[in-house]
Amino acid sequence: MINVAIDGPAGAGKSTVAKAAAKKLGFIYVDTGALYRTVGVNALRKGIDPKDAEEVKATLDDIDVSLGFVDGSQHVFLNGEDVSEEIRLPASSMAASAVSAIPEVREFLLSLQRDIAKKNNCLMDGRDIGTVILPDAQYKFFFTASAEIRADRRCKELKEKGIPADYETVLAEIKERDYNDSHRETAPLKQADDAVLIDSSYMTIEEAVDKIVSYIKG
Ligand code: DC
Repeated sequence: MINVAIDGPAGAGKSTVAKAAAKKLGFIYVDTGALYRTVGVNALRKGIDPKDAEEVKATLDDIDVSLGFVDGSQHVFLNGEDVSEEIRLPASSMAASAVSAIPEVREFLLSLQRDIAKKNNCLMDGRDIGTVILPDAQYKFFFTASAEIRADRRCKELKEKGIPADYETVLAEIKERDYNDSHRETAPLKQADDAVLIDSSYMTIEEAVDKIVSYIKG
């Protein structure tokens, strides 16, 4: 199977670019952030503080998180319930960032990610795909863009979905998540030594897609 690891901070354009590149290549696109978001949503629903490692760990015993693909697009299920919409709410983003720092949560989601990669040609999007989940992926990319540009993109995305968004709040949240994601002890966000760096700040989506596809097609 051909595995492509795509890592980078929130809003660097990974998901849009990876989705389009996957379509061109005929690979599946796997958004691993959805898995952490689902664990976060479960904690919120149970009234648990997502930062409380002990409480969150205890929830892992009775949850089943799975991914399904409908017409090529990914859906995520929490105990069989499709939570693909709920995981996109801003509160779910913060909860995901908090639970993703808990080593047991990362361990809980590891085999699910590796199994998908074993069975499918895929572009897998996350934070630690090239470093931890698929260290032997044939292709690795690390996306980056300035926090301001990422906040601007996130606001537009949220507004398109009818979710009210304030630029300064979104920017502050992005900076907080960047800090959390790159400073946690387990699998922090960092570029793999053998990953190709793509700064998407001033690139169009098409340019970034072409760059990835041309690496893979050779
Ligand atoms: O990509 P995203 O914004 O949906 O990710 C949500 C959170 O999950 C993000 O704050 C970091 C975390 N995450 C992670 O730690 N490892 C991954 N492979 C994917 C996401």
